[in-house]
Amino acid sequence: MRGLLLAGGTGSRLWPVTRSVSKQLLPIFDKPMIYYPLSTLIRAGIRETLIVTAPESTDQIRRLLGDGRQWGLRLEYAVQPRPEGIAQALLVGEEFLAGGPVALVLGDNILHGAGLGRKLSEYTTLTGARVFAYPVANPSAYGVISVDEAGRASSIEEKPVVPRSRYAVPGLYFYDGDAVKIAHGLRPSLRGELEITALNEEYLRRGSLRVTVLGRGAAWMDAGTFTTLMHASEYVRVIEERQGRKIGCVEEAAWRAGLIDNEQLRALALPLQKSGYGEYLLRLATEPGRQNSPTGGTGEDPTAVP
Ligand code: DAU
Repeated sequence: MRGLLLAGGTGSRLWPVTRSVSKQLLPIFDKPMIYYPLSTLIRAGIRETLIVTAPESTDQIRRLLGDGRQWGLRLEYAVQPRPEGIAQALLVGEEFLAGGPVALVLGDNILHGAGLGRKLSEYTTLTGARVFAYPVANPSAYGVISVDEAGRASSIEEKPVVPRSRYAVPGLYFYDGDAVKIAHGLRPSLRGELEITALNEEYLRRGSLRVTVLGRGAAWMDAGTFTTLMHASEYVRVIEERQGRKIGCVEEAAWRAGLIDNEQLRALALPLQKSGYGEYLLRLATEPGRQNSPTGGTGEDPTAVP
């Protein structure tokens, strides 16, 4: 399975901040926003990812992430000329995906929870589609899904005025090789976008949309407005300062997944020492009993409670 990371859009809900810098490069506490979805993909076991960007931000984002080799990944870039919908990214990435399955993640979504990596990696071999459901106080701001007691979806709608459930659909989607074909058949919505919800609706119609309800133990946030940007930063700061463990640390995820060894981790740490980020990586490399597994894995912290 390959990854598609969406880092396009205009970021207009954050103007003027994002007039000259890509939203996905803004900091969520101590690291760029895009590190969080990228580490989600690493934890799910994805090693090859296409980063879809707006035309003016490819260079900025590439300067940060490069070709991914430093983290044992393969990262490629493609431009979405205009933000015409999340599902359009599947068309932009058609060649890269080569008919195979895909994990699509939104560049402003943060998912955090013990055991999540292991759970996500189960979905990398799937038939149909897998989405998530997360209870929120304001479902109308999101895609909303209704789930019955057996965990089956009965409806999915984009930003309904009167939501049928409390479950929002987070920006992480797993699809089989049909997703691109289905995306080709989508028509723009009233707001002029190829909606990811319309794609999910088609999987639902075919009876092949599966849902995982994320419980209270998981945290999901998107960081697309001034307030949610602050909420996400505050959340990360509080947990990191309390636990002494970072959230969304790409280097750590790669190291725990066995993609890089202690020596490579140390080399990545050295230029980052002044900010304290490098100190953290150095500490990881020397902590006893937390060595990465040479056979690779899901990037789980072995000490995490499942
Ligand atoms: O955050 C989860 C929600 O994301 C889902 O619940 C909704 O169903 C889904 O439509 C989406 O809603 P948003 O209104 O929050 O999407 P937004 O337009 O903010 O785009 C989300 C990210 O995707 C953002 O970081 C920019 C990127 N994007 C978006 C569009 C429309 C692109 O890269 N290209 C695009 O064309």
